[in-house]
Formats: sequence, C-alpha cells, structure tokens
Amino acid sequence: MTEDRCLGYLPGMDHNESPVLEALAEYHERDYANYSPPGHKQGRGVDDAVRRVLGAEVFRSDVLATGGLDDRQSGKKVLARAQELMADAVGAEHAFFSTCGSSLSVKSAMMAVAAPGETMLVGRDAHKSVIAGLVLTGIQPVWVRPRWDRELHLAHPPSPAAFEDAFSNNPDAVGALVTSPSPYGTCSDLKTIAEICHRHGKPLIVDEAWGAHLPFHDELPTWAMDAGADVCVVSVHKMGAGFEQGSVFHLQGDLIDPVRLKESADLLSTTSPNVLLYAAMDGWRRQMVLHGHELLGSALKLAHATRREIDSLPGLRVFEDRLVAKEASHDLDRLQIMIDTLDAGISGYQAADWLRQEPAINVGLSDHRRILAQFSFADDQERADRLVSALADLTRTSLPSPQSVVLPEPRDLELEQVMSPREAFFAAHDVVPVDESIGRIAAEQVTPYPPGIPAILPGECISAGVIDYLRSGTEATMPIPDAADPTVKTLRVVKA
Ligand SMILES: Cc1ncc(COP(=O)(O)O)c(C=O)c1O
Repeated sequence: MTEDRCLGYLPGMDHNESPVLEALAEYHERDYANYSPPGHKQGRGVDDAVRRVLGAEVFRSDVLATGGLDDRQSGKKVLARAQELMADAVGAEHAFFSTCGSSLSVKSAMMAVAAPGETMLVGRDAHKSVIAGLVLTGIQPVWVRPRWDRELHLAHPPSPAAFEDAFSNNPDAVGALVTSPSPYGTCSDLKTIAEICHRHGKPLIVDEAWGAHLPFHDELPTWAMDAGADVCVVSVHKMGAGFEQGSVFHLQGDLIDPVRLKESADLLSTTSPNVLLYAAMDGWRRQMVLHGHELLGSALKLAHATRREIDSLPGLRVFEDRLVAKEASHDLDRLQIMIDTLDAGISGYQAADWLRQEPAINVGLSDHRRILAQFSFADDQERADRLVSALADLTRTSLPSPQSVVLPEPRDLELEQVMSPREAFFAAHDVVPVDESIGRIAAEQVTPYPPGIPAILPGECISAGVIDYLRSGTEATMPIPDAADPTVKTLRVVKA
C-alpha cells in the first residue's frame, strides 16, 4: 500500500482517518450526560446478567447518531465524511451506509430506478428481499432465467445473452437487476451485462450482498462498480468486518439520481440507526484500504490450500473450475468453498447438522447435496485445520441414508408469473392443502433459506414439480421460514 493510496483518490481524502470511530472516542472523552435515548444511558441501566454476556463496551458505544455522536445539525459531518471515504476507497461516486442490511439497500436501489407499474429485468435467482421490493413498489418483473446445471443440480447466473433477449422483448424495461456473487460465490458476467444495459440507455443494479470485499483484491471477481454497474449494494457483515445488518450502497454515473436514491432509503429506513454499525463499517474501510490487499491475499492462499485438502478427503468434492466452465458461471469467489457431499452418501443438511452438533462448527449454507464453508480474512491456519479435521471425522462417521429431495426438470421449477407479485400478495386468499394448490396462483413467497432464493413467488402459477421439490425438501429438513405454514402442508393462494 503506497502513501498516495492511503491519501485516497480524491483530494482531501485520508484513509488513515476514521470519522465515526474518532467521533465516538471524542464522545467518550467528553463524558456526555444524556437525557435522551437510548434508555440504557450507555449501559448505566443495564441488568448485570445482560452486561455479563454482552459486555459493557457494547452499551457504552450505543449512542444517538444525531444529537449524540454528531451535533443536532450533524454539523461535524461525521457520517457524511465516513461515506465519502468509503466511496473513495472503492472508486464509487457516492456511498450510503445502511443499518438495515442489503435487504433495505436493494429495495432502495429498485425504488430509485423504477416507479409502480414500470417493468424491470430481474434475474430469477434473486434474494427474497428483491421480491419484497417488487411487492412494496409494484414494479413489474420480467424474469431472466438462470442456467441450470443438470450435473451439479445448481443454477448458474443468467447469461448476458439472456439479458440482451429480455431487453429486445421488453424495450420498455427501465433497468436490470442482477445478483452477483450468488450465495454460493458464483458470479455473473457483470461487465457484459452492464454494456448491454447501457447500450439500451438503462441502469444496472447489482445485488452484491456477498461481495463487500471484492474491491480490495484483484484476484477476487470484478466488483460491480469496476464492471460498470450504476448502483450496487453490499452487506459489509457478510464478507467484511461489519456488524450484522451493516450494508452500503454505492452509486456512479448519471442514470440514477443520488437524491432519489437517498430519499428512497430514507422512506424505508429506521430513524434510529445503530452507531456501532456505522463505526464498524468505517473502521473496516480503513482496514481494507491500509491492509486489505495483504489480508485478502493471505485468506485466498489459505482457502486455496484448504480446498485441496478437503477435496482429497474420501467422498467430499470441492468444485472450482467446474463452476466456471463454458455455459456456467462467469467467475467464482474462491473464499467460498463449496463442498459436495453426494459421493459421501449424505446430504448437505446432515453434514451441517453433524458439524454443528459434534465439533461445534457452523457452515454458511447447506442444501440437499452440499455445504459451503465461507472463509474471510479473519480465518487462519488453525481455523482451517479445525475445519479439515472435522470434515475428515465426518467422512469416517456413519450417518443414515439421507431423505432424497425430488429435483424436477428446470421447466417444472420455472413457474409462470400470471399476476404481479404486489397484486397477488395483497389479493384475498384461500389457505389450501398443498396438493390443491397446484394450478392455483400463489399469494405468498416460499423460500428455502439459505440460500434465500424463493421457489414460489406471489403471482406465480404453482406447478406439481415445485410442490414435489418443497414437500420432499421439508422432509429432508430444508428450512422454509417465510411460508405462512413452514411445514408447507398448506399454501396461501389467490382466492378463486
Ligand atoms: C443475494 C443476497 N441479497 C441480499 C441479501 C440480504 O442481505 P442482508 O442480510 O444484509 O439484509 C442476502 C442475504 O443473505 C443475499 O444472499
């Protein structure tokens, strides 16, 4: 890292600074007495039993953002300055911090691009928060289908050609929304998709919830702003060092009005943002600018060696090149180690449960035939060894045969959108036994979580194939937390 880089791209930017942390330190030094929220008054009123578990420092730094950390007019521009530094660090024109996760940021981005009734091209591998955005805004989706890998039973992101076709068939579409990386770490060809969007004069939104770290190392997949996206949202808590819910949206170019984006976020946001979240995001930006290349380089090396070790265990396969082959994903975040358990004769659900119960290891994602171990710059050799040794023990453990999950042909899982998600969500509904839902219009969203990509959306016509998949999935312990009936014995459908 050169001295210039620490000073930032733009004049006046010094990445050694950390405005939120500095303001918090000053706040503590002044020893303010607050006659304002939060009611715990920096921990004075907190029950000892709570303090013992959470620690005093958490409450000490839980202060009001305006009229606490900064003055009542935000005159010191603490947050504004932290956001400017974040934008400068990653080469965006604007960055906005959010304390409501990418779930909020992605909805704000959608509202900044489209109005109710307008159409947007959306990759169907979208996270459930995008669907919530469609319900809230009344934007009409034109679905762009992912590519189904029959061998791996995995959806690769939609191709650029699919977006080109979608624009040709829907010239009125006001923009496109792509999810990349996917929760599995696979990536779209964002550069080509951005070029296609711009050729049509339309903005590209990228849900890059899994990609907060991408700007800070050149061996990671291209990050959305570098690929030419107009707005992208990242969850700093996923692959960065933010607290849970810390998210940033980044903006560049002139296709999206920054004021409209800010107003959209304001409509959806809390008026009581947690300063701890701002502080962690601000500190993480400084850490990444000063040391990110080195830290992420080491993490990539560690993940590379760990992949090899896991792949050599009997019955476990780690996919890498296979995921970025022709007609597959464009790129892969190699910190995400996808471990296929099929040959070990167990499901990913069984592997995840055993790892949690026995060696006390939690993995990021599990499905019918794989688990995902997510590495970050916080991992080291000792933690990698712990994972490999636990997986070696798993391969020596005899577990019952897994419940099989019925995986229908892709066409049976690609449901037809016959009503808008918003109309269907707000329509009068019937609750019907799941068998009777086939052929009816869904009034709810049904999402295996993780990865969080809905199998059924409000407004889609329910197929027998998707019901087989969900029924066999729940029997195999697939969690479906958002369905009105999480056992999926009944479904909410639009009243006939
Ligand atoms: C692709 C994708 N987008 C958005 C989100 C929402 O992010 P957050 O949990 O920060 O609200 C997630 C969460 O898992 C996700 O996987």
